[in-house]
Amino acid sequence: MKNSFIKDIAFYVPEKILTNDDLSTMMDTSDEWIKTRTGIEKRHSTGDTNMGPADLAVLASNKLFEKIGMDKNEVDFVVFATSTPDYYVPGSGALFQEKMGLDNIGVLDIRQGCSGFTYALSVADKFIKTETYSKILVIGAEVQTTQLDFDNDGRGTAVLFGDGAAACLLTSTDGDKGILSAHLHSDGQFIDVLSSSHPSSKYKDIINEDNIKKRQHHIHMNGREVFKHAVRRFKEVILEGLENNNLTIDEVDMVIPHQANYRITQTVQKQLGVSEDKVFSNVHNYGNTTAASIGIALTEALEQNKIKKGDIVVLASFGAGFQWGSVVIKW
Ligand SMILES: CC(C)(COP(=O)(O)OP(=O)(O)OC[C@H]1O[C@@H](n2cnc3c(N)ncnc32)[C@H](O)[C@@H]1OP(=O)(O)O)[C@@H](O)C(=O)NCCC(=O)NCCS
Repeated sequence: MKNSFIKDIAFYVPEKILTNDDLSTMMDTSDEWIKTRTGIEKRHSTGDTNMGPADLAVLASNKLFEKIGMDKNEVDFVVFATSTPDYYVPGSGALFQEKMGLDNIGVLDIRQGCSGFTYALSVADKFIKTETYSKILVIGAEVQTTQLDFDNDGRGTAVLFGDGAAACLLTSTDGDKGILSAHLHSDGQFIDVLSSSHPSSKYKDIINEDNIKKRQHHIHMNGREVFKHAVRRFKEVILEGLENNNLTIDEVDMVIPHQANYRITQTVQKQLGVSEDKVFSNVHNYGNTTAASIGIALTEALEQNKIKKGDIVVLASFGAGFQWGSVVIKW
């Protein structure tokens, strides 16, 4: 059977940087509060450029193809993960295909929030293992800053997120390397703990002055509740992935968790009983870029030579839904 492996990965973040100090001019917050609670120092924003996730994905993909030296039209399928799609209809995948100038290949949209990248990789892996496709572009792209409430009412959430995109080429190989397994979960009873529900097809009367005054059109979150479940599920799903492959935590060379909060990452690292250098973190520079965060972190881990051939790497995610997952990879 064919294996699927990550040939290479690249990312793009918009030029505009929002520091914690910038945010404290918009709402009642401070660099000290944000850094202590989350580790985040800055994030990138599309600002007033009108760029959507498809635009960021094009810039990330161009960097990827340049890096690999590959013609983009060799790609035979695209899996596009975002929770902040450019349009309701069609999904960002179609916009991306057109903007990128790809042949008329299939595009699949994934809407799994912060777990978008692990879900997208898992789907792409199956297409390769069943020999349906051999070169799949997996995208995680997000423009979160559009839906944030940069006002006092939204300060608990607005300080956490940033914009960015990662593009990864998953290819077919006969070699003893690649994705060993993926493990995906959800628990929809927690939908309202972290959601952006308005406007939507469900709430038909939503676009009115009253609801806008109630700031219904922004993302809402109970941060403490998310934190509590995140630390439990990260550990669980990482160990599930390892057990499935008869691996122990001592055999893992690098864990790349979804970058939400440095305190979450630290707690997971301690729970797993591994050293700090085995759990990658770059949340301080980008904030939570949702579906893009694991891809951005993986790119930087590779650029910093933290992953080498033969290493066992575990990607792990947790986010809205709740939905969580892990992908175990032999590099
Ligand atoms: C959001 C989060 C940083 C809040 O940290 P916390 O220690 O739980 O803080 P709390 O929510 O209890 O708020 C503590 C106080 O700070 C205030 N506060 C909230 N946001 C603030 C901000 N940006 N600046 C200053 N004060 C703020 C609250 O109003 C509260 O004040 P009070 O005690 O007077 O009521 C933390 O819960 C978290 O990171 N959760 C996970 C969220 C996440 O990662 N979501 C993404 C999905 S994976």
